[in-house]
Amino acid sequence: MGIETSCDETSVAIVQDGRRVLSNNTASSLRLHQKYGGVIPEIAFRAQLETISQVCRSALKDAAVRPQDLKLICVTCGPGLAGSLLVGVSFAKALSFSLGLPLLEVDHLHGHIYSGLLNRVPVKNPYVALVVSGGHTSLFFVRDYKRIDLLGSTLDDACGEAFDKVAKILGLGYPGGPLIEKLAQKGNPKRIKFSCSGTKSPLDFSFSGIKTAVLYYYSKLRAPSSELKSDIAASFQEAVINTLVHKSFLACRLKKTNCLVIGGGVVANSRLREKFQQQGERENIALYFPEKRFCTDNAAMVAGLGYRLLKTGRADG
Ligand code: KG4
Ligand code: ZN
Repeated sequence: MGIETSCDETSVAIVQDGRRVLSNNTASSLRLHQKYGGVIPEIAFRAQLETISQVCRSALKDAAVRPQDLKLICVTCGPGLAGSLLVGVSFAKALSFSLGLPLLEVDHLHGHIYSGLLNRVPVKNPYVALVVSGGHTSLFFVRDYKRIDLLGSTLDDACGEAFDKVAKILGLGYPGGPLIEKLAQKGNPKRIKFSCSGTKSPLDFSFSGIKTAVLYYYSKLRAPSSELKSDIAASFQEAVINTLVHKSFLACRLKKTNCLVIGGGVVANSRLREKFQQQGERENIALYFPEKRFCTDNAAMVAGLGYRLLKTGRADG
């Protein structure tokens, strides 16, 4: 069983042999945060406290698994909101104690990497992994499940956060990623030259400059047409994706690997998938994307990775 409560989702999943997802049930408090334009931690963890037992029961029922059939409890230990993590970890500890089962803690970002490997044949180590979510943008070198080195990360805003902020500037709503993607589909990505700021280390990221560039550009307009708004969304999205593609493939070259695994909420973006796929074909690098349902926060990735860690002999208190 995997349990994930690092942000606004409460997710419980049952996974067999670290790979086959038998159930993955997620309740989200997103609706309660929408009017604030971002997640409010106190609202998130109160909702999680109220829903976690029910989500757990449904996950067992959907997988047709009884509590006594479980072999291991895995739980996200961070990074995330303190109150939210505490709900998941307390629940997991109580369950593991009452059922007499081992308990393993899983890093949320490592979980996102693993989401690309669910329901798939295993990938050969080592490989480069990119995690692009609402809270993080990081490149990793995965030697094996236990040894995951950080190659670079964002120096300011996370990639999904930049999508959310630009959506707010354009008056689109929250969460912004899917709304920007939809608007960008009608737009011309070449109309405005936006670009992401450079970073001293080539594998780090910076998205706050491009967000500010969109803000300045947009606030100077008198009455932007819907066509121009689409072009802004498309030009912004294209610049961000180009940077992600460029740095991820650079990491593959530097680390001499021909395998790239990508995870996180932003990977739900179809244009991103398309551009990574094209570059992968050009450079002969195999790509692993999660199924769309495993891009955003979910417990299946936690259960899957926890199982692998157990196999390497890890044990937590
Ligand atoms: O991984 P996730 O569910 O939560 C974190 O761990 O942060 O990612 C949520 C982020 C949000 O910022 C959201 O705007 C972004 O993923 N996102 C997208 C798309 N769908 C979700 N960004 C771009 N295009 C999308 N289609
Ligand atoms: Zn996440």
